[in-house]
Amino acid sequence: MPTDNQGAVLQLTAAGVTVLIDATDGQLPAIIHWGPEIPALTADQAQTMVQASVPVAGSNTVDLPPRPSLLPGQHSGWTGRPGLRGSFNGIGWSPKFRTRTLALNGTPATGFISSGAGVLEFSAVDDAERLRLDLVLELLPGGLLRSRARLTNLCDMAYAVEDLALSFPIPAEASELLDFAGNHNYERVPQRGTLRTGTHLRENRKGRTGADSAYILHAGTPGFGFGHGDVWAVHTAWSGNHQHYAEHVFTGEQLLGGGELLLPGEVLLGRHDSYSSPWIYASFGAGLDEVAHRFHAHVRSRSPRLSADRPVTLNVWEAVYFEHDADKLIDLAERAAAVGVERYVLDDGWFGSRRDDTSGLGDWVVSADVWPTGLHPLVDRVHALGMQFGLWFEPEMVNPDSDVARAHPEWIMAARTDLPVESRHQQVLNLGIPEAYEHVKEQILALLAEYRIDYIKWDHNRDLIEAGNQLDGGRPGVHEQTLAFYAMLGEIRSLHPGLEVESCSSGGARIDLGVLEHTDRVWVSDNIDPHDRQNMLRWTTQLLPPEYLGSHIASGRSHTTGRQHGLAFRAGTAVFGHLGVEWDLAKAPAEDISALHRWIAFYKQERCLLLTGDVVRMDGHDSNVLVHGVVSGDRSGAIFAAAALDSLYPDPAGRLKLRGLDPEATYRVEPVFPGATPSGLLPPAWWGQPTAAGQTVESTSLRGTAQDGVVFPGANFPGGVLATVGVASPRIHPDQVVLYRITRAG
Ligand code: GLA
Repeated sequence: MPTDNQGAVLQLTAAGVTVLIDATDGQLPAIIHWGPEIPALTADQAQTMVQASVPVAGSNTVDLPPRPSLLPGQHSGWTGRPGLRGSFNGIGWSPKFRTRTLALNGTPATGFISSGAGVLEFSAVDDAERLRLDLVLELLPGGLLRSRARLTNLCDMAYAVEDLALSFPIPAEASELLDFAGNHNYERVPQRGTLRTGTHLRENRKGRTGADSAYILHAGTPGFGFGHGDVWAVHTAWSGNHQHYAEHVFTGEQLLGGGELLLPGEVLLGRHDSYSSPWIYASFGAGLDEVAHRFHAHVRSRSPRLSADRPVTLNVWEAVYFEHDADKLIDLAERAAAVGVERYVLDDGWFGSRRDDTSGLGDWVVSADVWPTGLHPLVDRVHALGMQFGLWFEPEMVNPDSDVARAHPEWIMAARTDLPVESRHQQVLNLGIPEAYEHVKEQILALLAEYRIDYIKWDHNRDLIEAGNQLDGGRPGVHEQTLAFYAMLGEIRSLHPGLEVESCSSGGARIDLGVLEHTDRVWVSDNIDPHDRQNMLRWTTQLLPPEYLGSHIASGRSHTTGRQHGLAFRAGTAVFGHLGVEWDLAKAPAEDISALHRWIAFYKQERCLLLTGDVVRMDGHDSNVLVHGVVSGDRSGAIFAAAALDSLYPDPAGRLKLRGLDPEATYRVEPVFPGATPSGLLPPAWWGQPTAAGQTVESTSLRGTAQDGVVFPGANFPGGVLATVGVASPRIHPDQVVLYRITRAG
């Protein structure tokens, strides 16, 4: 087949990462190196590198050396996972693609090119000219790599796409895996293992990202941690069925890959139809923090960037659940405003017959029973108090006992004549049906037109099981549903550009970079217990920076775990995210209200740093104390936390070490207690004598405590000493936290 492309070798380098790509001889691009930055090569050196990356043939293997491309195929002798599975009713199942055009940043690329961040576009056609493959490989300015594919059927026969996954090679030393498990109320639980011959495959068939989502699949040098080891990672940016995998083939090649997971017959391409894959992101870093920083840099590069003044939010869910009473909710708004809340969110229960979770879901009309004059009294009062107003929706779901389900039973997703098994008394509304899509969209738009709504909490509280299209014989509909969800968010936001949207899904079951293209906040978990949140925040930041993480202060007794915690631990945990309150303030003790006020004031004072800095998580030798913090981009300051999650062992805890500061600069390190000091506190000598006993919070710029008025002066240390030598830790009781404010001295 003729090709107008001479091929190219490309070296892209950004933010300490280099990708070296062999796209010679019309072959699909193969990554020769993805990892730490290497010096800029000459054309001759690059050519030699291409040769030097070719392995010799193993005994009794095919005569072509293995060369897994972004989309590996059997025509090259590859016997690992193919990048593309599909056929024209059994034929054309092993396409051999030849690249016809290749461009870097829109300009045709040939020979050897060395460049910074950039976008590579490959257009290839298979040798039978039945399929076209368009591949994009992009190195982003923060060193994050991403790729996606579009497959187009060029002929009259229908092509069934069974699977399309993109993969990135990793070196042999990346032998330890880390990804995530989890469940409702305890999301993103890390799990480690060894990459052995075969495939570590994480498949999701839940039609949403999932509380047990693999989230990010890492492979690294054995024992890698937050601050050490070389780590490679992939993330599939898709909120429907999806997959992540790590593969080690017998010839020694290792790949990390991801893609959408397609159900049987879900994507059938007629002539000139295309299937587009989601973005697959790939992040390399020296340690997990650097891997995370590349994701954060990308999320933060969106325009406009989220303001650091993220409004302190009150969500009414754990305060009232379904007991909507206008007077009570207005009273809650007044109490919220009084402690400094800036956004008030009315959760589930305001619409249709939704007096509990058995009825009314899907009827997005304000309930006249609960709100005889509409939501106006509440919305108006919230705005008059100077707060934004947010409203909860669950647009993809219905209770069978709802007006919409009664009127349109055919809009419920089902694969057979029976409906799927219920979950939380609900079924899924098929937004892939245009009339259903328009119905839901119009109901939401009508509310946005009637009320000044600044914010939507967009929920999604069940898995998609047997999610087919009744109007099409039950054909799988998860792919279409996911696209329709993104499209609806896109339409609504383009009509209401200032509207913020939170992605919630039974807590944290829809957090991925696909949904993050359309939303501004995620609800980390329905579990607000700070003991568990310490871990969930620690790991959710592996993908998202803190300003995206809904992080609430709830009542003293956790509604999900029954554990009891003081406000200092609840608040000292929650301030490392987008702060909120989810608590019936009418029932809160007076001393808690005044301490909550001070915590919110502390947050407002520090949120620019807390929500824009670099996340640092320390690798603890003492597993009972979690140390983490945020360091400002210019290294002028930081806020760290050391949280004891269990009885100290050893006791006292080991030295506190802090990474990420300028090793040459001197920093003042002060413990800060916006509320009470932690129980069981025995301060180390370097904290100094309490010097401001009796001063009020206001007169000590929030350093003091209301309960004991103690202010510790702290001490000065070089940044390098804090990172390498460390300083003595205090004693504290379990489930207590100490915050440190760190300021460059002089
Ligand atoms: C889900 C959410 C909660 C709340 C309820 C309402 O569980 O995660 O925050 O909104 O739905 O039904």
